[in-house]
Amino acid sequence: MAKYNVFDCSIVELDKHHSDRKGNLTVVENGETLPFDVKRVYYLYDVPGGESRGSHAHKDLEQLIVAASGSFTVTLSDGINKRSFFLNRPYQGLYVRSGLWRELEDFSSGAVCMVLASEIYCADDYIRDYDDFLRYRDI
Ligand code: TYD
Repeated sequence: MAKYNVFDCSIVELDKHHSDRKGNLTVVENGETLPFDVKRVYYLYDVPGGESRGSHAHKDLEQLIVAASGSFTVTLSDGINKRSFFLNRPYQGLYVRSGLWRELEDFSSGAVCMVLASEIYCADDYIRDYDDFLRYRDI
């Protein structure tokens, strides 16, 4: 399987429908918006200040991570390079390829981290130990 690096990940601008009087609406539609079809949506919220989430990699799963409200930082690592992305717009998403370590930090008060995922939940898809991750990456 292809091993992606952090430079294969980027911020995707999502469709935004603006109405002067009634606010905004953003759409993600299978077959249109992303390189994968969405099989699962979950969201993190009420994350206490100073707490971090993530600290794992996925072998196959791909994700679009959206700050549906508030802000937070996602740091990706391929074992060699690291890149940090500050997310604070509900019409932008970070496309995270498979096989990368991620840390989610610096959640603002009221932040909602919405994740659109390419697969249903599978505990076996997780790599939760960083040394295992480096071995998985052949580093
Ligand atoms: P986890 O993926 O470890 O969250 P994070 O990386 O954000 O800290 O998941 C936390 C818990 O939620 C863990 O017990 C597994 C469970 N979980 C599900 O049951 N289904 C899911 O789709 C997800 C994402 C997590």
